[in-house]
Parts: sequence; structure tokens; C-alpha cells
Amino acid sequence: MTFDRSIKIAPSILAADFANFGAECEAIEAQGADWVHVDVMDGHFVPNITFGPAMCAAIRPHIKGVMDVHLMIAPVDPYIDAFANAGADVITAHVEAGPHIHRTLQAIRAAGAKAGVALNPGTPAEAVAHLLDLTDLICVMTVNPGFGGQKFIDMSDKIRTLRSMIGDRPVHIEIDGGVDPKTAPMVAQAGADVLVAGSAVFKGGSVSDPAPYGANIREIRAAAEGVYV
Ligand code: DX5
Ligand code: ZN
Repeated sequence: MTFDRSIKIAPSILAADFANFGAECEAIEAQGADWVHVDVMDGHFVPNITFGPAMCAAIRPHIKGVMDVHLMIAPVDPYIDAFANAGADVITAHVEAGPHIHRTLQAIRAAGAKAGVALNPGTPAEAVAHLLDLTDLICVMTVNPGFGGQKFIDMSDKIRTLRSMIGDRPVHIEIDGGVDPKTAPMVAQAGADVLVAGSAVFKGGSVSDPAPYGANIREIRAAAEGVYV
């Protein structure tokens, strides 16, 4: 994984056909996805359950690019090696998931993955002030985690604050929740470079008719890139 701040679209497979994950991953990459975002939920840290490391390992051969694993689980540390061994390129843990996020980020890097830290909407940017040199990605949640298809919560001020805290460190700012062609320009303008989108990418398409995925991805990307023009 090389670092740059170009806009990257990361479809969340939470909005994919759960009976067809391998084919869905291949379809979104063929349609222009940059990263594949995998939402792991435990029914404890968030009120929903999705899938675990075995599913990540099963889809890995179907993903050519970056597998971006978002852990909405607590505790995190006992499962880091399992997700790294499943082939995660990025493993993101929530700052709210336990008392030792610093140790968690060290452990993710030690396992050979890029270390991400996620912030719920109610958590201030300052929560990562002492983690900036330990992290490769800061995920700013623009919904309360647990479900796809929720309404976007404007976190532009937090994104701007983080962008200035990061300075020239090679740290991505990822936005997760309610990203669509309307909200993408706001977050890109504030300094985000990785845009997760579930419902806005998968709507209208399917494995047998994947062209809408491509149209949706191009529309979100153009909207985000448009702010620089
Ligand atoms: C929310 C997840 C998100 C979500 C995004 O808990 O982390 O990745 O699935 O879905 P949309 O784009 O539909 O808000
Ligand atoms: Zn996510």
C-alpha cells in the first residue's frame, strides 16, 4: 500500500448480497472501487452482528486491492492476529472500544497491518492527539456505528481539526456513514481522502447487473473531486 491523498472510494460490503460476497467484491472492484470496506460487528460494541475473520479470509482471494477491515467489536486485541492472518491490509479499531487503544494500535502494526483508529460522532478529535504517530488511518464516523443506510451526521469541523493535527504525517482520513454524492464534497473539502459508502454504491445494482455500481462510484468520486476544481 503506497500513501497518497487522492480520493479513494471504499464500498462497504454491508450493503452487498450476503449470499454472494466473493462475486460482489469482484464486481465492485471491476466497477472502479479503490478499497473494499468490511464491517465487522459483534452485537456488543454495536447492536448488530455481521461476520468475523473466517469470512474475511474467504473473500480475500476475491479482492485484488486493499481489504479495509473496520472492527466494531470489544474487546479488540484477542482478535487482531486472526484478522491480520485473514489478509486485512488495514485494521481499524474504535477508540471507544476499550481502555488501551494505544496498545491496540501497536499490536495491529506488530501483526503486519496498517493501523486505523475510528471515532464515534460523540468523540472529539483530541482523543487521537497522542496516537498520530501510531496510526495510518483515522476513521471519522458520520453515523453512529451499527447499521448501513443511516442519515449523515455533519462532522466537518472534526475532520478539519484532524487534518490540521495530522500535518504532513502519512495518515489517511476516512469517512464512514451516509456518504453519497451530496455529502461527499463536504467531507472531501474538509480534508478526507477515503470515502466509505454502502447503500450509495450498491443501490440499483447486483452481481448480474453491476453497471449501476460503477455509475454510483463515478458519481461519488466526481462529486468529491469536484471540490478541488
Ligand atoms: C456503519 C458502518 C458503515 C456503513 C456505511 O456502522 O461502519 O461502513 O455500513 O453504510 P452507508 O454508506 O449505507 O451509511
Ligand atoms: Zn465501516
